[in-house]
Amino acid sequence: MLSEKMEKALNGQINAEFYSAYLYLSMAAYFDASNLKGFASWMRVQNQEETMHAMKLFDYVSGKGATVTLQPIEGPQTEWESPLAVFEATLEHERKVTGLINALVDTALDERDHATNIMLQWFVTEQVEEEASVDDVVQQLKLMANAPGGLFMLDRELGQRAFNAPTAE
Ligand code: FEO
Repeated sequence: MLSEKMEKALNGQINAEFYSAYLYLSMAAYFDASNLKGFASWMRVQNQEETMHAMKLFDYVSGKGATVTLQPIEGPQTEWESPLAVFEATLEHERKVTGLINALVDTALDERDHATNIMLQWFVTEQVEEEASVDDVVQQLKLMANAPGGLFMLDRELGQRAFNAPTAE
């Protein structure tokens, strides 16, 4: 059983995760058009991760006997100035999502909803990893600002990332 307030907040986060998936797919399209296939592939994996996040919340809400209410997904940005601008926007977005997750934990604590609080701890940990991996790419892009050859090496490296589907818990 979820309180009305908790149900509404979790539905809002489902929308935010689908928006993230949509944003990263838009970034994948940008990289495809820029002929940076490794960057595009990394963003496709990021899209899969965000869809998994949304579905994790979807299944939780549904499993609690509450109602999942899907809302319209906002149209994402489609143009960026450079690969660095894309990853800086990604970092900024992930920091925003971390704030949303923290606010959800606050709501769970206010509602004395221990089960939801425990479920959300997975997302708290995930956000630390997400911010760190994106910041790593931002730092590498800054270092190679004046070495275009580095971009192709990083493109090859990012292309190695694979999506690890979560195992059943
Ligand atoms: Fe689902 Fe990247 O946060």
